[in-house]
Amino acid sequence: MARSTFDNFKSLTVLCLSVLLAGNSVYAAPPGGYSYNGSCSTLSTIFPKRVSLPGSSNYALQNAEYWDEAAVLSPACISVPSSAADAVLNLALLVKNNQSFAMRSGGHTPIPGAAGTNGGVLLAGDNLTDISLTNLDGVPVAKVGSGLRWIEVYSWLADRNLTTIGGRYATVGVTGSSTGGGISYYRSIHGWIADNIVGFEVVTASGEILLVTANQYPDLYWALKGGSGNFAYFVHFYLKTWPSVPIYGGNVVTDASSVDALVDACASFADQKEGGMLDPLAAVNPTIQYTLDSRQFSGFTNVFYNASVSEAPASVKNFTTIPALGNSSVTGPRTFVSFVNETAIFGNDFRRLFRATSVKSTPEAVRLIQSVFDDQATQLKNIVNGSVTVTYQYMSEAFVQAAHVSGDAIDLQPADGPLIAILLASAWQTPGDDAYLLSFMTSLVEAMDAASKAADLYYPFIFLNDAGIGQQPFPFYGAGKSLPKMKQIAKKYDPLGVFQTLAAGAFKL
Ligand SMILES: Cc1cc2nc3c(=O)[nH]c(=O)nc-3n(C[C@H](O)[C@H](O)[C@H](O)COP(=O)(O)OP(=O)(O)OC[C@H]3O[C@@H](n4cnc5c(N)ncnc54)[C@H](O)[C@@H]3O)c2cc1C
Ligand SMILES: *[C@@H]1O[C@H](CO)[C@@H](O)[C@H](O)[C@H]1NC(C)=O
Ligand SMILES: *[C@@H]1O[C@H](CO)[C@@H](O)[C@H](O)[C@H]1NC(C)=O
Ligand SMILES: *[C@@H]1O[C@H](CO)[C@@H](O)[C@H](O)[C@H]1NC(C)=O
Ligand SMILES: *[C@@H]1O[C@H](CO)[C@@H](O)[C@H](O)[C@H]1NC(C)=O
Ligand SMILES: *[C@@H]1O[C@H](CO)[C@@H](O)[C@H](O)[C@H]1NC(C)=O
Ligand SMILES: *[C@@H]1O[C@H](CO)[C@@H](O)[C@H](O)[C@H]1NC(C)=O
Ligand SMILES: *[C@@H]1O[C@H](CO)[C@@H](O)[C@H](O)[C@H]1NC(C)=O
Ligand SMILES: *[C@@H]1O[C@H](CO)[C@@H](O)[C@H](O)[C@H]1NC(C)=O
Ligand SMILES: *[C@@H]1O[C@H](CO)[C@@H](O)[C@H](O)[C@H]1NC(C)=O
Repeated sequence: MARSTFDNFKSLTVLCLSVLLAGNSVYAAPPGGYSYNGSCSTLSTIFPKRVSLPGSSNYALQNAEYWDEAAVLSPACISVPSSAADAVLNLALLVKNNQSFAMRSGGHTPIPGAAGTNGGVLLAGDNLTDISLTNLDGVPVAKVGSGLRWIEVYSWLADRNLTTIGGRYATVGVTGSSTGGGISYYRSIHGWIADNIVGFEVVTASGEILLVTANQYPDLYWALKGGSGNFAYFVHFYLKTWPSVPIYGGNVVTDASSVDALVDACASFADQKEGGMLDPLAAVNPTIQYTLDSRQFSGFTNVFYNASVSEAPASVKNFTTIPALGNSSVTGPRTFVSFVNETAIFGNDFRRLFRATSVKSTPEAVRLIQSVFDDQATQLKNIVNGSVTVTYQYMSEAFVQAAHVSGDAIDLQPADGPLIAILLASAWQTPGDDAYLLSFMTSLVEAMDAASKAADLYYPFIFLNDAGIGQQPFPFYGAGKSLPKMKQIAKKYDPLGVFQTLAAGAFKL
């Protein structure tokens, strides 16, 4: 069934392409390439309503959809494909014109040029927002447009008494978060977000629409789970579904007076004999912030438990009993959608940086990372409306096993045991502070790595979704064994290296 639909699509595509390109090979660019205006004006002719130019209101709206203000660049035009067939025509033209382009879905990567371009064509996901229920290889799935954000997916599914394994924060894009691996609230049972994707509908650089599953193109299927935008253009994801059930959760907001108690809870949670992370139904996401205007620490902890209960289960109780501010609320039973909706923090009024590293999961590792953070953060110079944060993302032994069973390019090694994926983030508003903060964040991670290595608590892994400018996640995949395979697979499906060179992106192979 899927096969014949695919073949029809392919013939249609070949027909469209031959008309569009009037005898030119898809690959043959004119010497020196076409001008940007050439690509934008051709795209505007083919898709009069789906291409916007600088100065138009659509362009202004679509070009504002970045979480990091510094990631807003100046594309020559913005094209919003509405289907796989549209994406084929877009890519064919870009490849033919040797035209640099960027791909933006949820726009959450805080790296200028990860999903944006100065002068190139921006393919934005805004019009790939369809969602439906279907079956793939006998598995009931939600077929989800690559331009959707998780809150949209969760609330559509909840209306049908279903849910899926996705991002923790409302506005994050399905595409970036799931193809970089992806941390969900259900990770100890279901592994990475990517491990729950039954199929990917992609358009390759040569203009083919592929339905990529464990049975069709299994090598590409493996590589897409962790490989981000390095192989093809994502159009739809086929996500496994689960019954939607009431859960327990909310946020605990703490001021400076409770931060020590919060660090105690964070450290205990990481213990491998009795810590809360041993409970596969529990997920906590504690963030400790240092605010530069006030020179004060504070805490923000997202608590989740997959059970229909009204009292905190023992594994997360250390977080809910910390003296907290009035705007804290951890409750149950409640809907998953109401819980996730409280995490909507979209807004591009700040410049931002992420940086990632990892440690083994022990209480000592948490205390060590926190002491480096405290020491360095307090030495920062005054930055208007500036802040830095550290977040502990507990990845249990059960998680590592679940991810391993599914099989993905990230290929964490079960023998290496549980880890904590550390996210360092900063926010500020003045462009003049960009270089200072990048240099601060870079040395912060270097100091953390030096300390954790000295204490034998370092874990060699950089989580792509949290990685920052200049960090390289792929060499860590599969303890070094995945990257050579990923490069071969990229060569097979993208022999010209379109996704390595023409396409913008933060992390290339
Ligand atoms: C507030 C916030 C909360 C977060 N929460 C989580 C979380 O709970 N779990 C988690 O794992 N991560 C989380 N992250 C990290 C997040 O997963 C990454 O930033 C991710 O890259 C964002 O995906 P996006 O689609 O929003 O971003 P984008 O910046 O639009 O895209 C990310 C990458 O994918 C590529 N890309 C985009 N669209 C396409 C396409 N159609 N085809 C091919 N490539 C494409 C882009 O080129 C870019 O390099 C969070 C980030 C933020 C800022
Ligand atoms: C494509 O563009 C790149 C960078 O602009 C250039 O180096 C290369 O020569 C171009 N290729 C062709 C075939 O025009
Ligand atoms: C595109 O066309 C405009 C208006 O003709 C011109 O100002 C601009 O420089 C051109 N840009 C490129 C990249 O050729
Ligand atoms: C995409 O854009 C077209 C033209 O603007 C519109 O008619 C269509 O409804 C859009 N589709 C989606 C899925 O948003
Ligand atoms: C969802 O579950 C509720 C409560 O069991 C039920 O009343 C409702 O009909 C269900 N909705 C759908 C779309 O199945
Ligand atoms: C809660 O904190 C106490 C005291 O630090 C610790 O002994 C206990 O293991 C923690 N419980 C969990 C489930 O993390
Ligand atoms: C959450 O827990 C319920 C009740 O045990 C279970 O039915 C459901 O499958 C769980 N959800 C996920 C995504 O694991
Ligand atoms: C919670 O309230 C405090 C002051 O009472 C405020 O500073 C903080 O920004 C609030 N946090 C959230 C997440 O609402
Ligand atoms: C999320 O919360 C906002 C503001 O409270 C509300 O307007 C919106 O409808 C909510 N969305 C969902 C999906 O519940
Ligand atoms: C700092 O933030 C406040 C509140 O968000 C805002 O009113 C003010 O303009 C910001 N300051 C600067 C210099 O941007």
